[in-house]
Amino acid sequence: MIDLRQLATDRILVSPSVLSADFGRLSEEIDRVEAAGADVIHLDVMDGHFVPNLTFGSPVIKSLRKKSQMLFDTHLMISEPARYAQAFASAGCDHLTFHLECSERPTGEIIDAIRQTGCTVGISLKPATPPEAIFPWLDRIDLILIMTVEPGFGGQSFMTDQMGKCATIKREILRRKLHVQLEADGGIDAQTIGTVAAHGANMIVSGTGVFGYPEGVKAAIAKLHDATKLLDSAL
Ligand code: DX5
Ligand code: ZN
Repeated sequence: MIDLRQLATDRILVSPSVLSADFGRLSEEIDRVEAAGADVIHLDVMDGHFVPNLTFGSPVIKSLRKKSQMLFDTHLMISEPARYAQAFASAGCDHLTFHLECSERPTGEIIDAIRQTGCTVGISLKPATPPEAIFPWLDRIDLILIMTVEPGFGGQSFMTDQMGKCATIKREILRRKLHVQLEADGGIDAQTIGTVAAHGANMIVSGTGVFGYPEGVKAAIAKLHDATKLLDSAL
């Protein structure tokens, strides 16, 4: 199984979000995007409290793990990530990203709780959270997830105003010479990928942009990968 820390940070990695997949055939959908070139798979966990929507929890992920070897890039949009970290790790998640805004307990304790499960650790920022809020934690995590929509739903419009934040965080990662994935999530497709890559995000979540691409998932993923040539060009 791949470890997130072994993945390159200098090329585009594609993480299709299963939120836009057929939930009745989830494991087949994961196999389909893997065969089409996806690097990891994005699992959006929502609790109806931190965000106004519900998706799935660790039992579903446990079933998917039996069918797939892909790296499960798990995005916890839940109020109490530390409380459930062990359950998600035991279900087969490799990586857990929690929200800086969840305020369950001090951020350092949540990082430690996830680390203890053996999963790699990510922190996500909602659109209103400033880039500097992540700076104290940059050296202790493996991934930063910048939301380019308000978390909760797939198929929303990309927020261009998050690109300055993306560039600020990427510059800080480069300045400190850290091997950290900079991931962006929300409204990213063949049209918006260019600006995302140019502003420094190299791990790309895409739900509608992959599963709903008219020319098929393989063409969608290839288009996203193609933006490696633009990576960091607007920094
Ligand atoms: C939104 C989720 C996203 C969502 C992305 O809260 O975190 O991962 O599935 O979907 P698209 O790519 O359709 O915006
Ligand atoms: Zn997500």
